[in-house]
Amino acid sequence: MAAINYSDKIPNNVNLANDRTLQRALEHWQPHFLDWWQHLGPKDFQSADVYLRTATSVDADGWATYGAVKMPQYRWGIFLADPVAERKIGFGDNMGQPVWQQVPGEFRSTLRRLIVTQGDTEPASVEQQRLLGHTCPSLYDLRNLFQVNVEEGRHLWAMVYLLHAYFGRDGREEAEELLARHSGDADKPRILTTFNEPISDWLSFYCFTYFTDRDGKYQLKSLAESAFDPLSRTCRFMLTEEAHHMFVGETGIGRVVKRTLEVMKELGTEHPARIRAAGAVDLPLLQKYLNFWCSSSLDLFGSEISSNSAANFANGLKGRPDESQYEDHVLRGAQLKLETPEGVQDVPMLNALNEVMRESYLKDCEIGLKRWNRAIERAGYAFRLSLPSPHFRRSIGSWVNVPVTPEGKIIPREEYDKRIGEWIPTEADRAFVRSLMQRVVEPGKMAGWVAPPERGINNLPVEYEYVKLS
Ligand SMILES: [Fe+2]
Ligand SMILES: [Fe+2]
Repeated sequence: MAAINYSDKIPNNVNLANDRTLQRALEHWQPHFLDWWQHLGPKDFQSADVYLRTATSVDADGWATYGAVKMPQYRWGIFLADPVAERKIGFGDNMGQPVWQQVPGEFRSTLRRLIVTQGDTEPASVEQQRLLGHTCPSLYDLRNLFQVNVEEGRHLWAMVYLLHAYFGRDGREEAEELLARHSGDADKPRILTTFNEPISDWLSFYCFTYFTDRDGKYQLKSLAESAFDPLSRTCRFMLTEEAHHMFVGETGIGRVVKRTLEVMKELGTEHPARIRAAGAVDLPLLQKYLNFWCSSSLDLFGSEISSNSAANFANGLKGRPDESQYEDHVLRGAQLKLETPEGVQDVPMLNALNEVMRESYLKDCEIGLKRWNRAIERAGYAFRLSLPSPHFRRSIGSWVNVPVTPEGKIIPREEYDKRIGEWIPTEADRAFVRSLMQRVVEPGKMAGWVAPPERGINNLPVEYEYVKLS
């Protein structure tokens, strides 16, 4: 493994110094990135000292250092996981052949599109979250937000490296476009819908990091299987960082549940209006947020039936997450029973891979739910949080616009329209959540709607001053 030379302008383990053309191209892109960060990264706080983790190697036991950094001085670097010797293509029609170190001509545009689509989500989420710092529930949370933000910035670097290194002039143009599209922009929006919705409160942020970053995890896992080895290695290292993003979501929602249970105990009631009056998030309201973000994130997997996903798999570009856990890696002739509004259909497995991914994603989502429900159960309440049916509120695929309840029942359109406010946050719900968003920046203090975390970052106490405001 190449060591990191921190005197380099761009920390990297890809021997950038040996490729002057590539190095110059990236050094040309770097000021554009920094400019983007200043304008569309976290609003304010750019001169604050933030206790951040910085990737400095890909060593399994010690890949990062921690310390106070001003965000614009963060060392965004390029890191690929170590190569696997003699790695072979693990799925599809070319299974068993050596992986590719260069992009095969016939897959050039498809691979570029896959990389651009992934790359676009990274800066998009930073843009979506740029105002959240103003209403942080604690310095601990503020630091976590910024940690996620700088790492999404690094993930953009990861994709831009691939574009610059392997896609020539087209790649360089795409790298510029990644900074030209903006979340929610009327003329140049981000590619995927979910990444154009602003995240204006911390409950949404926790849900986003729980559900949407987890979609990211599944996309990265499937790209980590790719026959294009530099993409595989890049994604494998990104997954290491991604784990923290989902930790922020899972523990964030867990802390909301914990605080709500305390308030329910104190007041001796489960009544939503009384819980809200006490400044906490009632559990039915949390359920609405889960319904909203889960259903919105499920769309990111694409249509249930997709000839693109079939071709990407057959050609070895994109596998299934954890491909090695399956027995059949070719899938010619395999079938899947797919539930559609018209009934169960047999479809070729190759065409249903988006659905396969969606199912394994949902299983992963259940883990947090179980933990939160255990806390509710232990506190002696019958309420249970749940994931909505994957057919609920879909805006892509065979369930698009079908009026389905979160329990998965098809109902008349009229009833659905009347009841949708029971299932996802209404304007009044959102206004209430916004009213809770009061900035708390005294070290160790927490906003009243969220419990403190069980422990601090990197073995530091919860009371540590994670962000020194200037
Ligand atoms: Fe990311
Ligand atoms: Fe992430």
